[in-house]
Amino acid sequence: MSLYAIGDLHLHFLSPLKAEAQRRERVWKDHEEKFRKNCARLLTADDTLVLVGDHSWGRTLAESEEDLNYIAELPGRKILLRGNHDMFWDAAKTEQLNERFAGRLRFLQNNYYAYRDYALVGTKGYCFEGPFWIDARGRIVDWDEKRAEHAKKLVERELGRLRLSLEAAQADGFRKFIVFLHYPPTSLLEDESGFTALAEACGAEQLIYAHCHGESRFHVSIEGEKNGVLYRLVSGDYLKWKPLKILD
Ligand SMILES: [Fe+2]
Ligand SMILES: [Fe+2]
Repeated sequence: MSLYAIGDLHLHFLSPLKAEAQRRERVWKDHEEKFRKNCARLLTADDTLVLVGDHSWGRTLAESEEDLNYIAELPGRKILLRGNHDMFWDAAKTEQLNERFAGRLRFLQNNYYAYRDYALVGTKGYCFEGPFWIDARGRIVDWDEKRAEHAKKLVERELGRLRLSLEAAQADGFRKFIVFLHYPPTSLLEDESGFTALAEACGAEQLIYAHCHGESRFHVSIEGEKNGVLYRLVSGDYLKWKPLKILD
């Protein structure tokens, strides 16, 4: 029995949308098939796979249905977190998704799931990604204050959601946590945040995140151990579609 994670499948079985990188970069070529094969090779029915957001390009649940069916057919127990592209998933209607896909998929939002004596907690998260103004030497000299203010509000809302998830687990007696976010835990230029503070305060062993695509974005946030928390990036293109083992 093992716990695995990956993010950003960006499936599009029924949606006409697709990222530019998905058209031109080799890592994205037939990525659904590469991922399906890796899961078949690595995962068993006893394993748990957490998919940390950006599952589907579908703009509605109907357009995402085939993408979700593809995920449901992978081996093991599948737990899904919201990403910024998951238009099919209204946070306030998570319960309906859990009912509709009961026994096939589990949706993590303001709740938690148990894995051995760990609680798997999480939320989409948020971070400020610019725009920045850069000088001739490539140094950041200023940024969009209005957007930065807006980002702060979204970060606060997501922190509230993470607290709800954590408190639900604590109320049930859990003391060991793995935190899952879709966005990286820190904004560009930050080396700590409300998310890192919360992970440290609850004694989380690991914080798993995705959202970052392409070489230039893979290393924009915390990686490795910091203040007792192990930070790990699990974007699908970073992992080359091989789910990362989080716990045995
Ligand atoms: Fe993504
Ligand atoms: Fe994303």
